[in-house]
Amino acid sequence: MTKEVAKKQIAELSKAIEEHNRKYYQLNKPEITDYEFDKLLKQLQSLEQKFPEFLLPDSPSQRVGSDINNAFEQVKHKYPMLSLGNTYNKEELRDFDMRIKKRLGEEQNYTYCCELKYDGTAISLTYKDGLLVQAATRGDGVQGDDVTQNAKTIRSIPIRLSGENYPKEFEMRGEVIMPHSVFNTLNKERMDLGKDPFANPRNAASGTLKMQKSAVMAKRNLDAYLYFMLGEKLPHNSHYQNLIAAKSWGFQTAEHTEKVSSIDAVFAFIEKWDTKRFDLPFDIDGIVIKIDSLSLQEELGFTSKSPRWAISYKFKAEQAATKLKSIDFQVGRTGAITPVANLEPVQLAGTTVKRASLHNADIISNLDARIGDTVWVEKGGEIIPKITQVDLKLRPKNAVPFEYISLCPECETKLVRNDGEAHHYCPNENFCPPQIKGKIEHFVSRKAMDITCGEATVKALFDAGYITNIADLYDLTYEQVFSLEGFKEKSAKNLIESIAQSKSVPFEKVLFALGIRFVGSTVAKKLAKNLLTIEHLAKASVEELIEIEEIGIRIAESLVAWFSEDKNKEIIARLKAAGLVFETVEAKTASEKLKGEIIVLSGKFAIHSRNELKKLIEDNGGKNSGSVSKKTTLFLAGEAVGPSKIKKVKELNIAIISEMEFLELIGE
Ligand code: IVH
Repeated sequence: MTKEVAKKQIAELSKAIEEHNRKYYQLNKPEITDYEFDKLLKQLQSLEQKFPEFLLPDSPSQRVGSDINNAFEQVKHKYPMLSLGNTYNKEELRDFDMRIKKRLGEEQNYTYCCELKYDGTAISLTYKDGLLVQAATRGDGVQGDDVTQNAKTIRSIPIRLSGENYPKEFEMRGEVIMPHSVFNTLNKERMDLGKDPFANPRNAASGTLKMQKSAVMAKRNLDAYLYFMLGEKLPHNSHYQNLIAAKSWGFQTAEHTEKVSSIDAVFAFIEKWDTKRFDLPFDIDGIVIKIDSLSLQEELGFTSKSPRWAISYKFKAEQAATKLKSIDFQVGRTGAITPVANLEPVQLAGTTVKRASLHNADIISNLDARIGDTVWVEKGGEIIPKITQVDLKLRPKNAVPFEYISLCPECETKLVRNDGEAHHYCPNENFCPPQIKGKIEHFVSRKAMDITCGEATVKALFDAGYITNIADLYDLTYEQVFSLEGFKEKSAKNLIESIAQSKSVPFEKVLFALGIRFVGSTVAKKLAKNLLTIEHLAKASVEELIEIEEIGIRIAESLVAWFSEDKNKEIIARLKAAGLVFETVEAKTASEKLKGEIIVLSGKFAIHSRNELKKLIEDNGGKNSGSVSKKTTLFLAGEAVGPSKIKKVKELNIAIISEMEFLELIGE
C-alpha cells in the first residue's frame, strides 16, 4: 500500500468511526453492531501501526488506550472546581429560592434548569480549536490529576468536536459514571478472582478513571455525562441552550433536563425522579437546580465553596428495615466463601427484597449483625441490596454475636483465611462440589473455551457422575449426553461438537479457562505472550514470573502452587492428549531473520513494550543485550535516547534503526 492510499484510508476510517460513535452515543441509533465497530477500529489501528506518521492525536484509535503506565501529573484548574450546596428537604429548597429572589429583586424573572445529579466522579475537559487537550479530575478543587489518556478511552467523550461554532477554547464539566450493567459484571469478575468487589458504581468509576493503564481502563466501559460549560465566549446566555449546542458538537450532555419557572415545578421534578431513578441504567443521588441565565448566575456569584445560583437536592437513600433471619454461605469456583443474608421479605424501591449481600466476615463483624436483629437494607447499583446498619434498639435480648463458620458448608473442609485477604476459602478445590461445578462452568464460558453448555447442563453432567473435572469433558460420549433429561439427538450432537471445536481455542484462552486463582483474561494473555508454552509456564519460578510486566508476587505464587499439584499436572496431561492448544501460535511462526544479530534497546517505544520487543528479537533468532559494546550489531532506538549513548553507538559504527524499521525487518 502506498503512503497516499494509507493516509486516505486512515482519514476515511477515522471519520466513519467517529460518525458511528456519534450515532451510538448521541442519537442512540447505532447502525452497525459492536463487532463491526471493533473491526473498523482494528483496521484503523493496524494501518496506523504500519504508517505511524499518520497517527493523529485525535484518532478514534486512542479509545483503545495504551499499555504505558500513566503517572498522573497534577494540573491547576483554570476555573476552580467547586462543589454544590446540599439540601435534603423541600424547606431548604424554598429558602434557596427565597435567597435568589431577594438578591435578584422581586421583579426579576428567572428560570431554573432541573437536572439529574449523576453519582460518579467529576471531570473537567478542556477543548482548544475543537480538540480535547486536557482532562482533569476534581482533586482538591484547585488542582487535580491529568487523566487525559484515560478520558480518551471513554467513547462518549469526543476527542475532536463535530459541528461548528464552538468557542476557540472552553471547558466542559461533567460526571464519569459506571453503568449498573458494567458494574455488576466487573464485580462478578472481581469476586471470581478472589478480589474484593467495589462498594458502589461511584467508587468503581473513580477507581477506574485513575487506573494506570489506559488500555486496561478502556475495557471497563465507563460513560460520561456533561452538564456545565465554562469559558470566556460561550454561544448563549442560557445554560440550557449551551448544553444543546454542546450536544451538537458531539457531547453526551445531561439527559432529562427540564426548564421550569417556579419552585413548585422543581418539587414536581424531584417527586418524579425520586421513583423514576430506579429505572435508570446508572445511579443518580439527587437532582441539581441551576439558574438558567448566565448573566443572572454572574450576578448571584459564588460563596467561597459553591455557587449561589445552584443547589443540589439529595435523595435519601431508599432504605427499608427488616429482620435478619439467617446467614447462608456460598462457595465460589475459587473456593471463596460469600455470606448472604436471608431477610424477612420487604418492599424496597419497587421490588421485594429477601436477600442481601454481606461480602465477608469483616463486614458482618463491623456491623455486629446478629440473627434476629432488625437491619436496614439499601439499594444501590448492585444486583442484590446491602445491609447498611443494625437497629440496636430493637435487638432481641437473647441475640448472640454471630460466629463465622470455620468449616466449608458444602464439604466440611476446614476454611483458611490468608493474611491480608478479606475472604475465607475452602482449600478442597478438587473435591468440593460447588468448586468443581464452578470451575467447569468457568472453563466452558464464552470468554474461556466457549463451549455451549449452561449451568444446568454442567450440573446434570456432574450429578450423573460423568464429569468431575474439566478434562472429563473431552471423554464425554454422545450416548452419555443423550441420556440426560432434556437432551435430544440434535442437542446432544451440538454439545459434543461444541466440545470438539473448543480444541482450537487459542492458548491464552485455555490458560484463562483453567481457572487458576488471580489469572484473569488479561493476565493469561500476558503469560501466553511471554512464556509461549505450557511447559515454560509450568517450570517458571516465582522470580521468573514476576519479571513479566503486570505479574505480581500474588499471581506468581498462585501459579507456582497450581502447577506443583499432581492433580493439576494430570489434568494438563489429559487436556493435552485431548488435543487442546498449549502454546502460543507465534512460537511456531518464529523466524531466523535476526540470526547473528546482537541488539541493544534504548529509549521509549511507541508500539511495543520493551518486553515485547525483547521477545520479538528472541523469536526471530536474535540476541538482546543490555549495553552497547563492540559486539553490538544493531541499536534499536526509541524516543528520547540519551545523546552520550548515541555518540558511543556512532563511534562504534553500529547501525541504528527505529522501531518501525525493526518491525519491517522482521516482517511484522
Ligand atoms: S454542576 C459549580 N450538575 O455533584 C457547579 N454537578 O455535589 C458545578 N454533579 O462536583 C457542578 N451531577 O461532581 C452539576 N447535573 C449536575 C451534576 C453535578 C452530578 C456532581 C459534581 C459536583 C457534585 C456536587
